Amino acid sequence: MNSSQRSRLLDAAERALRNAHAPYSVYRVGAAVLADGGKIFAGCNVENASYGLTLCAERVAVGAAVAAGNKNIRAIAIISDGPEVPWPCGACRQVLVEFAKDDTPVLVAIRGHLRAAEHTTLGALLPHAFRLETKS
Ligand code: THU
Repeated sequence: MNSSQRSRLLDAAERALRNAHAPYSVYRVGAAVLADGGKIFAGCNVENASYGLTLCAERVAVGAAVAAGNKNIRAIAIISDGPEVPWPCGACRQVLVEFAKDDTPVLVAIRGHLRAAEHTTLGALLPHAFRLETKS
């Protein structure tokens, strides 16, 4: 990922955060994934009155990428309003593993402070991840 892709990815996540539907937690999250080929797909958290049906921003972004035919994710950015940077929840880590690699960069930042983004890799966030080999 080059520096322009990195800033486009963070910007896309920040824009998506503005569309978050989070009336229950009042915790808005935006996420964006960089697909193989350079396209970016964004998502926000989508809460529901039946709380357990809530969709995390990361999984919405992954779904958008896959629905558009992109199953290889090269980088992920996640933004929240703070006060802490939004490391992805365990369920989202597992979903990301399906479409990304252990060395895939994960960037996290607080809205308005994108230059202070922290980063790690997916493998560092979910070591020894569960995978199934597909037959074809
Ligand atoms: N949330 C995300 O969007 N991503 C995460 O990785 C963790 C949590 C959302 C779900 C819910 O709308 C709100 O944050 C509070 O849990």
